[in-house]
Amino acid sequence: MRKRIIAGNWKMYKTMDEAKNFVEEVKDRLPESDRVDAVICPPSLYLSALVESTEGTPLKMGAQTMHDVDEGAFTGEISPKMLAELNVPFVILGHSERRQYFNETDEAVNRKVVAAFSKGLTPIICVGESLDEREAGKTVETVAVQVQKAFEGINAEQAKDAIIAYEPIWAIGTGKTATAQDANDVCGEIRAEIGKLYDDETASAIRIQYGGSVKPGNIGELLSMEHVDGALVGGASLEPASFLEMIGVAAND
Ligand code: 13P
Repeated sequence: MRKRIIAGNWKMYKTMDEAKNFVEEVKDRLPESDRVDAVICPPSLYLSALVESTEGTPLKMGAQTMHDVDEGAFTGEISPKMLAELNVPFVILGHSERRQYFNETDEAVNRKVVAAFSKGLTPIICVGESLDEREAGKTVETVAVQVQKAFEGINAEQAKDAIIAYEPIWAIGTGKTATAQDANDVCGEIRAEIGKLYDDETASAIRIQYGGSVKPGNIGELLSMEHVDGALVGGASLEPASFLEMIGVAAND
């Protein structure tokens, strides 16, 4: 059985104090469970302190983005080497907000995925269609192309460890969730695409999250679906109580 992964993407929210308080409240109340990985992706400024304060607890850290080279004249960026040095295990790559507001292309996402693996970081690779693409019946084609491009140059052993987050853009921060059936259908198509690119073993090993207005009230139904192995959660991951509740559902259901 695939281990679930619930990751909170905090985006550009919380002060350092608020972040520390969240972690203090959550870290010792998480279940020690073989069933779920619990991850928080705070603003990168806080990663060093939070990795240290969560050492030995089940709460793991992830970055929200990174550059694809180890160092260079790239003002404002953080590198894979820097994240690896801090022992940050996860990094979100290709989030739709990065694609939309920071011009991140499929090619750039691919370079970052390659760079993440070269430093032992586990990428959470985001794919998803816009409302226009969905209404034009292009959902599957859109995510399949994003998956193909993201995994160029990645071997099957690496692909098995990758995480894909299916986040339909129209469901992010809007309160509109894909139905559990819709989420499962697209996650199933993504798994089939991995099967075509690699093999059945890789397809059944890779973990696929759903993201977009996930909250305590809908996570149980989403996780009950065959191809949904977890969630990438924005707004509902900012409150300790709702984060803990979602982890509890994932650990027990
Ligand atoms: P919301 O859960 O706030 O819709 O955000 C989803 C998201 O973008 C997570 O990466």
